Amino acid sequence: MNYNKKTVKDIDVKGKKVLLRCDFNVPQDPDTRAITDDKRIRAALPTIQYLLEQGAAVIACSHLGKPKNGPEEKFSLKPVAARLGELLGKDVIMAADVVGEDAKAKAAALSAGQVLLLENTRFEKGETKNDPALAKAMADMAEVYVSDAFGAVHRAHASTAGVAAYLPAVSGFLIEKELEIMGGALANPKRPLVAILGGSKVSSKIGVINHLLDIADTIIIGGGMAYTFAKARGGSVGKSLLEADWLDYCNEMTTKAREKGVSLLLPVDTLCAAEFSKDAAPVLHDVMTIPEDMMGMDIGPKTIETYTAAVKDAGTVIWNGPMGVFEFPAFAEGTRAVAKALAETDAITIIGGGDSAAAVAQLGYADKMTHISTGGGASLEFLEGKELPGVACLLDK
Ligand code: 3PG
Repeated sequence: MNYNKKTVKDIDVKGKKVLLRCDFNVPQDPDTRAITDDKRIRAALPTIQYLLEQGAAVIACSHLGKPKNGPEEKFSLKPVAARLGELLGKDVIMAADVVGEDAKAKAAALSAGQVLLLENTRFEKGETKNDPALAKAMADMAEVYVSDAFGAVHRAHASTAGVAAYLPAVSGFLIEKELEIMGGALANPKRPLVAILGGSKVSSKIGVINHLLDIADTIIIGGGMAYTFAKARGGSVGKSLLEADWLDYCNEMTTKAREKGVSLLLPVDTLCAAEFSKDAAPVLHDVMTIPEDMMGMDIGPKTIETYTAAVKDAGTVIWNGPMGVFEFPAFAEGTRAVAKALAETDAITIIGGGDSAAAVAQLGYADKMTHISTGGGASLEFLEGKELPGVACLLDK
């Protein structure tokens, strides 16, 4: 996949209306709808500010949540408009719809330096179907399309990809940065490249493990999926998370690692608990001999030593997925130790969104990382080497 895409710097936007796809899919308090983390809104600011400085009128759009049946107040982007206005220090005009009369009228009246936010793109049924009529209706309001919605580039939707068929399409600074750092780490990494893969399920990381085995020098496995690997090697894993359908896959990956000369590191010891509870007492076991009534909850001290040593000597580290149940303090040490090792290494450190981004933030190491991706599913598909429709649709440099 070509990551070398034109950006806002490669196109003249002066006096033009720019349709800007953002990922404003922010977490909200279920009762008050207050935004609980505005990182994704902040991440869009450099591009919005640049466009305004260049004399463009910005028509921003995004999805929020997964509305299935048209407009629903709880999925409205109004709270985002308010927060965006505060962060920009200027009024953000809110449209009542996406491509309806209100949006069209407000877009037509918009002047340079102003920001309009369309309603949730998923209020339109055609959005997730990548309906060309919807894409064209959105494009008709503007003269240039800029995408900065990295978190949604894995979706082939009308506002993330379809619209690029009708307008010159370039990336904003956020997508540019994500492509440069993650794309660079995959295409031309500073070696050794160490990939740390955790999280609960092997099945959700199959593509990533397979793809990274072609690129990385070392792959470190942690989290719940380590127990499926342990079982595949003939271990007893007690009540630990196990995906019995993926045992053969684990063996195939072990063979592939051997053939490719990739060092595949698996836990040797694990902190276990009798039940999945934050109050459970941690007991240390060999990962291959977990008693029947126990479940693995975190990597153990010997494993931590090996994993952190690998990070210390790395040129680039990509991390996706926690090492254990880090939400429970008694089982957070593995994830904390790995986060600390990333914070202290001289390597380029890339956190691939989702749970690992949350873990790094919760543990206080966020500002020590080279890059924390704003994409969850998008980063995962990026690491799988898949073509991302929201990137593929942009003009090549
Ligand atoms: C995300 O939160 O990962 C993106 O905004 C994509 O959202 P989606 O999974 O609803 O498409």
